Amino acid sequence: MSLLSLATTKPATTSADSLLVTITPGRGKKVVVHGAGITASQGTRIAEALQAVSATGKAGEITRVPSPTAIKASTIVAVGLGDRDADTDGEKLRRAIGSAVRGSTGQRKIAIVPPDTDGSTIADVAMAARLGAYAFTAFKSSDPATARPVRTVAILVPAPAGAARELIDRAETVGEAVCFTRDLVNTPPNALAPADLAQAAKDSVAGLPVTVKIWDEKALEKDNCGGILGVGKGSSRPPRLVRMTYAPRGATSHVALVGKGITFDTGGISIKPAANMDEMKADMSGAAAVIGAMRAIASLGLGVKVTGWVPAAENMPSGTAQRPGDVLTTYSGTTVEVLNTDAEGRLVLADALGMAVEENPDLIVDVATLTGAQRIALGSRTAGVMANSDHARTQVIDAANAAGEAMWPMPLPEDLRPSLDSATADIANIGDRLGGMLSAGVFLQEFVPADQPWVHIDIAGPAFNEKSAYGYTPKGGTGAAVRTFVELVEDFTRD
Ligand code: BES
Ligand code: MN
Ligand code: ZN
Repeated sequence: MSLLSLATTKPATTSADSLLVTITPGRGKKVVVHGAGITASQGTRIAEALQAVSATGKAGEITRVPSPTAIKASTIVAVGLGDRDADTDGEKLRRAIGSAVRGSTGQRKIAIVPPDTDGSTIADVAMAARLGAYAFTAFKSSDPATARPVRTVAILVPAPAGAARELIDRAETVGEAVCFTRDLVNTPPNALAPADLAQAAKDSVAGLPVTVKIWDEKALEKDNCGGILGVGKGSSRPPRLVRMTYAPRGATSHVALVGKGITFDTGGISIKPAANMDEMKADMSGAAAVIGAMRAIASLGLGVKVTGWVPAAENMPSGTAQRPGDVLTTYSGTTVEVLNTDAEGRLVLADALGMAVEENPDLIVDVATLTGAQRIALGSRTAGVMANSDHARTQVIDAANAAGEAMWPMPLPEDLRPSLDSATADIANIGDRLGGMLSAGVFLQEFVPADQPWVHIDIAGPAFNEKSAYGYTPKGGTGAAVRTFVELVEDFTRD
């Protein structure tokens, strides 16, 4: 059942546990209430109730007051938008609505009056509500009703609803896929081995026109996937590779998405320190983003061929684990000297990129929680975007901007390549520590021909929010990159 719905009833007569309205600062200590269908006198009454408890309308402020008698919902939730510039502040609106919906746990139904009736406003409100109504409770033995996310959200628009219905449907589909990705990321590592991740990929597109092929360890051996096998061999739970193909009739372009799927990263023999190692359950966030994006893209029926690749392995230390100094032969034949077993993401990606390349897509985008250096360079909320084509990199950054995800262009300096030289093999798996995000990108570039447009997104920071929730972003898995991928593929339908 979908969380979002559209209603054309008037705000005052809509039945709901609470009615969510937006406010901005007015003259003196007054606030201005926005939204189509709220009459001037209702607006004044709501504003008076809010002013009585010192609401100011500043961005992100949330004020709950009992409804004035003229309004059917029992509570008014007023969301401050600050001095909003309607044309530019989609993210400000999404964050404000998102945190109000996130804070509405335990409620059965809320109704939201968007601040205006522009298509982009309705889309922003709908997406924020869908993303804000999230909690991961699968592993709680009891989940109190008061902690459950709001169950249904009605978006109120004046009749005739027109294009609003389509916008709300899109938000439902994409938002659901983002939440699906968050669930995968949050799932504990004992409950999500590589085979489970592969099965989840298959299940995620059940009933959709997507074909799924899974390589088990024997098939990986046969196809010379030395990178995936090398990383996976320290674990009692063998690696997998998944290919998901969505090929709608009439599609003229082809995008390949490749996601790092390390279900747990201990570092292997080059073991990580104990502190916060639990967060390495999120090292399959790239894979989860690809799976979520495939689900959304196929559900929306976008007219572009899209192939999703998920190399999955668990990086464990053991008597069967790979050693520093081992040399692997990747799918494409390039040999790699493993100088640090903790630089494992690039090894599994090397095989998957090698296979993705053989299908000659118009664009390959890989996404990975690849380096701690990404977080040093850009912080925990902004992804780094590298590419072998300025045009392709700009395409991805533009899609991220349109989707409201923070991504920033980063270079692949040629001068870092010698730092990856190996005395024994074709290349080593670690290079210069300074600019570590970039040397990882330069390593991956080695597995993509220069004339194959390719983009690499490092989401080590943005994939997992270790601090508290904010806006529509929960603590834990965030679903980073899913919205960007949907936007990017939609962009190809417009070419
Ligand atoms: N999965 C980690 C990167 C990571 C670190 C993601 C922190 C999220 C939070 C990756 O496999 C890794 O261990 N990278 C090493 C590479 C190094 C050995 C060259 C790193 O960044 O330290
Ligand atoms: Mn690692
Ligand atoms: Zn890793």
